[in-house]
Amino acid sequence: MKFFVDTADTAAIRELADLGMVDGVTTNPSLILKAGRDIVEVTKEICDMVSGPVSAEVVATEAKEMIAEGMKLAKIAPNIAIKVPLTWDGLTACKAFASEGHMVNVTLCFSSAQAILAAKAGASFISPFIGRLDDIHLDGVELIHDIRTIYDNYDFKTEILAASIRSVNHVIECAKIGADVMTAPPAVIKAMANHVLTDKGLDQFLKDWAKTGQKIL
Ligand code: E4P
Repeated sequence: MKFFVDTADTAAIRELADLGMVDGVTTNPSLILKAGRDIVEVTKEICDMVSGPVSAEVVATEAKEMIAEGMKLAKIAPNIAIKVPLTWDGLTACKAFASEGHMVNVTLCFSSAQAILAAKAGASFISPFIGRLDDIHLDGVELIHDIRTIYDNYDFKTEILAASIRSVNHVIECAKIGADVMTAPPAVIKAMANHVLTDKGLDQFLKDWAKTGQKIL
């Protein structure tokens, strides 16, 4: 399973990238706002840091303008994946970008029907939003499962990028299903290292070690 980091915080990306935890990065307009940076400047900095796909999202809602924005974003670096929303115009732009050999991440996917259309339009990645489905009491993980089945049935090459991940459990469920990629905030990736028994065990080892009166260094 590939790990993308869902942030435009370059310090957080650097910390995870140094440990080999970053196969790519996803950003969106809200994350650019949170970073408080210029989109071109921060995206370039991220692309210089990470060799895998870096998603940069268009904000136009009509295909023609989306295509113009996407072409500008694609010039930032060769590893840009142009991110478009799953609307009819977004699918039109997706097809245009894919035909020119650009990577496309189709975002804001909330149904299997939408995922089929994205694959037909040549998307490199489909981003089903698990957490936002859970927020309205629908089953986000089940959607990943359904899309996996459908894509496998027809050998669609579009990669399933599980997005809107809120917990370690989401990551594990998506890994069990076989999502190709997951994108999560840095805090969720770091939380994967935590286990109460690790903390308890380490605490006991340190207490016993202190009783030995020894030092390693
Ligand atoms: C994915 O590409 C999106 O940026 C992201 O996963 C959205 O997550 P959220 O629902 O936590 O905002």
